Order: sequence, then structure tokens, then C-alpha cells
Amino acid sequence: MNIIECKDLTKEYLSGENIVKAVDNVTVGFEQGEFCAVTGPSGSGKSTLLHVLSSLENPTSGTVTYNGEVMSNYNDNQLSILRRRRFGFVFQAYNLVQELTGYENIVLPVMLDRKKVDEKYIKRVIDMLGIEDRLEHLPSALSGGQQQRIAIARALANKPSILFADEPTGNLDGKSGREVLSLLKYVGKEFGITLILVTHDLHVAEQAERIITIEDGRIVRDSKDIHI
Ligand SMILES: Nc1ncnc2c1ncn2[C@@H]1O[C@H](COP(=O)(O)OP(=O)(O)OP(=O)(O)O)[C@@H](O)[C@H]1O
Ligand SMILES: [Mg+2]
Repeated sequence: MNIIECKDLTKEYLSGENIVKAVDNVTVGFEQGEFCAVTGPSGSGKSTLLHVLSSLENPTSGTVTYNGEVMSNYNDNQLSILRRRRFGFVFQAYNLVQELTGYENIVLPVMLDRKKVDEKYIKRVIDMLGIEDRLEHLPSALSGGQQQRIAIARALANKPSILFADEPTGNLDGKSGREVLSLLKYVGKEFGITLILVTHDLHVAEQAERIITIEDGRIVRDSKDIHI
């Protein structure tokens, strides 16, 4: 069974007088624990697909099903709870809260959920990501790679089943980008998380078990469908 799937998913935007089909009738599913890269040229609809799949944006038509449940059946409040508890997000720009320390950023999603921090689990995540000595620092005192590792720990804080990552290595130099990518892969496998990673960088995409290529909002290639 797919943990998340979409059927005939379309997302249109109004651009002046024109309608842009950013996602054009996409049907695709992802299994629990798989690592899939979504790649394609700039403007092909990669980020939009990620946003609609993860319910950050509503589709124009079509359905997204998470864990057997059609997401349009949820109201906005239920969707934000689902996102907070079951999905983790990692973006190119890290999006850390500048006034909070590394540790405070990591546990923020748990706090927002008014839950008790699972200290043992958070410590394991922190150890895996190698950020133990960065926890008391503010983001401004951290390198890009360190900030992104804090952001990954934050994304993992609520033990998500899916991690959505949009160009997570886009702001990093080659070496820290490779480190962040292999950490994402590692934590994904350790915790059995589905990793859906958007990138225009083929070297990054090649690290995934599965590569989906998008052009003009449509899937033009899915390595899963190619049998050697
Ligand atoms: N909020 C919006 N309003 C209007 N048009 C949008 C909006 N968001 C995206 N688009 C358009 O939808 C199309 C797909 O955009 P999207 O950001 O998904 O592409 P992308 O593949 O992520 O590109 P990039 O690699 O540059 O990040 C583009 O034509 C874009 O201009
Ligand atoms: Mg994008």
C-alpha cells in the first residue's frame, strides 16, 4: 500500500490573463520508507507538486490520499495537525527561527503540539546529525550546513512518516551538500521515513532509489516503471 498517493492531481495558477497548469493531471504513489527524487527543469512544477501532495496548497482538481484517507475530507485545522504530526519539511532556506537556539528550533514542533519532548529520541536524532555542540547557538552563529542539519532535526522532531524536502542542498557548497544529503538518506532509512526530495540537480537525484522526472507539470519518466 502507498503511504501517500495522488490521482489526476492538477494545480492551476492564474498568471495575468493566462492559466498556468503547474501540475497537470499527475497520478503517482509512494511507499513507506522509499527515497524518491523529483527532478526536472526550473518551472516544471516540482515545488508545486510537493506543496499539493503535502497539503501546503489545495489542488485545483484531483485527490491526495494519505494512509488510505482522502485529504480533502479534512478541514484546515485537521490538515495542519496532520502536517505537524505526520509530515516533516526541509526547505532550501532552512527557515529557522532566528531568535531561538538550535535546540529550541528542533523541539519547536513538539512544543507547538503541546506534547512532551521525547528526550531520548531527540538525543538520538541530534547524535545522528552530529549537531550536539551546536544546540546552544543561534542560527546566525551556524554555517549553512549546520543550520540545515538543525532544520532536518526539527523536521524529525515529531517522528514523521514522510519527509518532504525542496532543494535541501540548494544553498550549500558541494561538500556540505553531500553531507546533508547522505544524512537525509541515513535518517530516512533508520526511521523508515518516506523521503520525497525535489531537486534540479541530477547528481543529487541519482542518490535516490527512485527518480521521477517532471516536465511542464507532467511526469515524463519514473524510474520505478523502467524494468531492466
Ligand atoms: N503562487 C503562484 N502563482 C502563480 N504561478 C505560480 C505560483 N507558483 C508557481 N507558479 C508557476 O507554476 C509553474 C511551476 O512552478 P514551480 O515553482 O512548481 O516550479 P519548480 O519546478 O519548482 O521550479 P524551480 O526549479 O525553479 O524551483 C511555474 O510556471 C511558476 O511560474
Ligand atoms: Mg521549486
